[in-house]
Amino acid sequence: MRNIGILGAMAQEIDEVKALLTEKTVVKIANREFVVGKIGNVRCVVAFSKWGKVAATITATLMIQEFGVTDLFFIGTAGAMADGLKVGDIVISKRMVQHDLDARPIIPRFEMPLLNRTYVDSDLDLTELAGKAVSNLLEKGVESIVGEKAIKEFNLAPTLYFGDIASGDQFISNDDKRQEILSFLPDILCVEMEGAAVAQVCLEFNTPFTIIRTISDTANHNAHVDFNKFIAEVANAYSRAIVSEIVKLV
Ligand code: ADE
Repeated sequence: MRNIGILGAMAQEIDEVKALLTEKTVVKIANREFVVGKIGNVRCVVAFSKWGKVAATITATLMIQEFGVTDLFFIGTAGAMADGLKVGDIVISKRMVQHDLDARPIIPRFEMPLLNRTYVDSDLDLTELAGKAVSNLLEKGVESIVGEKAIKEFNLAPTLYFGDIASGDQFISNDDKRQEILSFLPDILCVEMEGAAVAQVCLEFNTPFTIIRTISDTANHNAHVDFNKFIAEVANAYSRAIVSEIVKLV
């Protein structure tokens, strides 16, 4: 039977997802709270990944090893890197890469040591399923996710994208750093701080995964202000809505 793992990058976002669970049991391991239960008829385990690659690695590993999740969805926000992406857009991963991984001259830049690869592919079926879930949500209109006030304030008119996402232990809030990353990884759509670590865990455990990120900022000098505002006012509604649609399709 399927046992879906849902990890979220922000406590506020994942609290809304935890609230969807019924028949709940809470298990605490390594300063993390795993909520086991059901959303609809789907068995789920939901946890806050905590921030950064190491924290997310611990949480993803526990999800798989301790709770036996069969599929892993990661949900959170990201800074836009590709031109044209705007706050409120949703990106689903095709491939994940660690933009701060650099063991040169021993190993080529970005390559994961001893794995002989730079990118981890998201699972095709989960990516398609997440894409359908988000498309269904967007067809209902953004007003099915958030209220009028937030739509106006953030100018929300979400578009769904599929593509490469980069992760690193840095919050990108500086145009120079943004350009530097893009000069080496020109195809990435957005940056965040956990997804590629979760992808590496899933690769090693052979667990299917996909990463779903909503754009909260454009990774520039104003990113921290935009990010905090988006988290406070909008992100949790996106997470709840996206997860609710995903479980309908599992
Ligand atoms: N998550 C959301 N925005 C981000 C940014 N600008 N850099 C890294 N992670 C993020």
